[in-house]
Amino acid sequence: MHRRSTGTAGERVVVRDVLGRRDRRAELAQDVHGGLSGRVRQIPPKYFYDARGSELFERITGLPEYYLTRAETEILQDHALDLVAEIGAHVLVEYGSGSSVKTRLLLDAMEARGSLEQYVPVDVSEEAVHAAADILAAEYPGLQVVIVVADFDMPLDLSFAGRPRLIAFLGSTIGNFEPQAARRFVECVAEELEPGDGFLVGFDLVKDRRELEAAYNDAAGVTAEFNLNLLAVLNRELGADFDLGAFRHRATYDEEGARIEMRLVSERDQEVRIGALGLAVHFEAGEALLTEFSHKYTHGSALALLQAGGLHLRRWETDREGRFALALAGLG
Ligand code: AVJ
Repeated sequence: MHRRSTGTAGERVVVRDVLGRRDRRAELAQDVHGGLSGRVRQIPPKYFYDARGSELFERITGLPEYYLTRAETEILQDHALDLVAEIGAHVLVEYGSGSSVKTRLLLDAMEARGSLEQYVPVDVSEEAVHAAADILAAEYPGLQVVIVVADFDMPLDLSFAGRPRLIAFLGSTIGNFEPQAARRFVECVAEELEPGDGFLVGFDLVKDRRELEAAYNDAAGVTAEFNLNLLAVLNRELGADFDLGAFRHRATYDEEGARIEMRLVSERDQEVRIGALGLAVHFEAGEALLTEFSHKYTHGSALALLQAGGLHLRRWETDREGRFALALAGLG
């Protein structure tokens, strides 16, 4: 399952495909079937990210209301050096390698310390990371890049990777997990750590409802387009006939669950056919399809999560406005 890429710096880029021959479309079909058969209709947010969805998310990260990416980048600008030094990291493992801006801040810090050896982006889509990986290999002389093609929600075998390692899960993607799944995820990460290694995780913090809801209901309507694009994915991949004009984007903050809940609400009574599933689904006017949870944390709830997963908190850094936090955790 090892493949070598071609090209000069590309010779330092290898791919480990853990997904192997898992059939992505069959999984989507199964998830959509399960998600539309239950009492609460829902589709997992991982299906947002086709080419169009990824492009729309990139646009979201630059929106004036969506402070998350800027706040996290600010924390890395201020603290990447000390976070990397705390671990003495030689290896950066990054789940869902998002913007290479944040990746570079960590790689630069490792390079400045003279400890940079290996970068391991973990992503479901090889195409999404390969181009970026080639560029990084060209930019950082001697850097070995190992692309791991895998789902975040499956246990990974990172035994090939060097140490001390820093496993990064940025962007508050952990917010997509419900509490139980978040704890399981932390447990899986803990399995890949040895004493001295670190887990760096981004948490969006609980704050004023208006600020949170504005971040997910931007004035330009990009988040609405991002949400509706999920229906386009189902139309294309599963031969469904969702009318994108007949559903409306809605994002609300639920204080009890400390989470943004994103939905697509049916504007009218309608019947949607999902060809590949041989399924017809009826939506009443006002009936909703749940598309994403985005959990918000406090210092206390993040600490509790990390401890429940078997980790202890080594550093907690926030942006100057206290909107977002990076936690650095480790074993024991
Ligand atoms: C990529 C999951 C962190 O929850 O803020 C942005 C996705 N959804 N706007 C988030 C998202 C709507 C984002 N995460």
